[in-house]
Amino acid sequence: MSEPVAATAIGPMVLAAVEQYEPVQRRLVDDDLACAFLPAGLRAFTRATRWSVARRLLIQATERSGPGLWANLTCRKRYIGDKLTQALPNIDAVVILGAGLDTKGYRLARHSTVPVFEVDLPVNIERKRSVVRAALGAVPESVHLVPVDFEHDDLAAELTRCGHRREHRTFFIWEGVTQYLSADGVASTFEFLSSAAPGSRLAFTYVRSDFVDGTNRYGADSLYRRFRVRSQLWRFGLDPDRVAAFIEPYGWQLVEQAGPDYLTGHYIAPAGRKLTASQVEWTAYAKKR
Ligand SMILES: C[S@@+](CC[C@H](N)C(=O)[O-])C[C@H]1O[C@@H](n2cnc3c(N)ncnc32)[C@H](O)[C@@H]1O
Repeated sequence: MSEPVAATAIGPMVLAAVEQYEPVQRRLVDDDLACAFLPAGLRAFTRATRWSVARRLLIQATERSGPGLWANLTCRKRYIGDKLTQALPNIDAVVILGAGLDTKGYRLARHSTVPVFEVDLPVNIERKRSVVRAALGAVPESVHLVPVDFEHDDLAAELTRCGHRREHRTFFIWEGVTQYLSADGVASTFEFLSSAAPGSRLAFTYVRSDFVDGTNRYGADSLYRRFRVRSQLWRFGLDPDRVAAFIEPYGWQLVEQAGPDYLTGHYIAPAGRKLTASQVEWTAYAKKR
């Protein structure tokens, strides 16, 4: 992928794919399509982790470069998937903002006709189309691919053009994206979200603002150097204590947040995994008034 920000779509799916080799009761996220959506070279790499020793070495290496990220990236997918499953009877559409190579929409299309709109940069939307064709034969009828740059394009107009209806109660997913945007890009996306139908849901992740501004590294120095010093790809952050007040003016009420304690209590400990979740990234879940 040419643009560094577009290439960030791959990482979370490698972790999800590798997790599928864990025995069911130890697995942090279920995703039988994850491996098929990866580029060919990474599919082969992932298959090598069917041996538990290789998997342990990979997890250890990932933990050295970003302590806690293995747990966060896999458990945030599990958390958002659980919330979507619970909300499904009461929603009319799903919009995945910054979908990357995520497979949720395609797993949903196996048993539901609810329309799914996957939004990402044009380069990633084209890539997703060919990945899906190669893996599944065709893009399912219920899934719509929407090319949008959150920084510059009219998200509302593009979604409408692709068939999304503003009056539909929509489950919005914005996973692993806000940190890559400018404050203006986040604000304009929330402006769009302010017109969502009452009863809509929003699950979004964010990086802590004190990590982004360098006040607290939370033991993740190499992560800080990679995303804030060398690439400067992470630009936006929020304080968990201020999330409710941040989204309220846009008409969204915070329901709960999944920080490291939540992920440990709900997913990591019950699976018997010896992993620590990171303070750096949190997931917020909200409902539209
Ligand atoms: C870390 S990936 C997360 C992908 C997916 N949500 C997941 O969690 O597996 C970030 C995604 O946000 C997209 N993205 C970043 N900046 C964007 C922008 N300005 N407009 C649209 N998409 C953007 C990237 O292309 C990438 O697919």
